[in-house]
Amino acid sequence: MKITVINGTEKQGVTFRLKEVFLGRFCNNAEITEFFLPRDCPDCCTGCTACFRTEERLCKDAEYVRKLEKAMLEADLLVFTSPAYVFHATGAMKTMLDHFGYRWMPHRPAKQMFGKRAVIITQCLGAGGKSAAKDIRDSLSWWGVSKIKVCTFRLMSEIRWDRIADKKKASMTKKLVKAAEQMRRIDYSRPARTKITTKLKFYAVRMLQKNLGKQNPEYTDYRYWKDNGWTGSARPWKQR
Ligand SMILES: Cc1cc2nc3c(=O)[nH]c(=O)nc-3n(C[C@H](O)[C@H](O)[C@H](O)COP(=O)(O)O)c2cc1C
Repeated sequence: MKITVINGTEKQGVTFRLKEVFLGRFCNNAEITEFFLPRDCPDCCTGCTACFRTEERLCKDAEYVRKLEKAMLEADLLVFTSPAYVFHATGAMKTMLDHFGYRWMPHRPAKQMFGKRAVIITQCLGAGGKSAAKDIRDSLSWWGVSKIKVCTFRLMSEIRWDRIADKKKASMTKKLVKAAEQMRRIDYSRPARTKITTKLKFYAVRMLQKNLGKQNPEYTDYRYWKDNGWTGSARPWKQR
């Protein structure tokens, strides 16, 4: 199986260690590709909207976005990690997610995303881990990913891995190993089941696209939907 990991920090701190515990369960039977942010997608979206209006290849950061997307589309399992920074995912993670705004369902979602599984690992000192995970989850669910598992941790006292109490490390490890075992048991030759909420989002956007298409049949997103057959009877969760 193939795993693509997108780390919201380059630091080899607690987030890194927790991710290593999770990935440790896959080492012998997975091909793992890792990205570290901001290194692998360093620059912010400037709001030129070229990706929305015309083509994503016109983005000034297309070389980074293309590499990330290729690895995500080829993966069976996506893993996202981030510490909480001021109650949210890191700015580097947000920067990367902004670049995939054009992949949100109201625009041009990739059909492969509808069958994917994802795991989000976040942690914080006291509060903000859940909202950091939500930042990532919002994008994944609007990309069409149905199966998203969140593992979030609160350290409470110590933030340096080598100083965290053994008992605390053991409880975090137990939770991550359980999550990894669940994900390992999945038959990745079959796509994940598409949730009803994902389908409802799709049908709401489909209605919107059909209306937009009536006003302007050359509208970029409408043409994408039409070419994929989604304004007709085709559905992305049946096309992978
Ligand atoms: C800029 C910044 C903002 C932070 N904001 C929060 C926060 O809102 N809530 C929290 O509990 N911890 C916060 N922290 C602490 C980190 O989430 C915590 O130390 C975490 O363990 C760091 O993970 P790392 O070792 O992988 O870098 C913040 C740390 C930084 C550097």
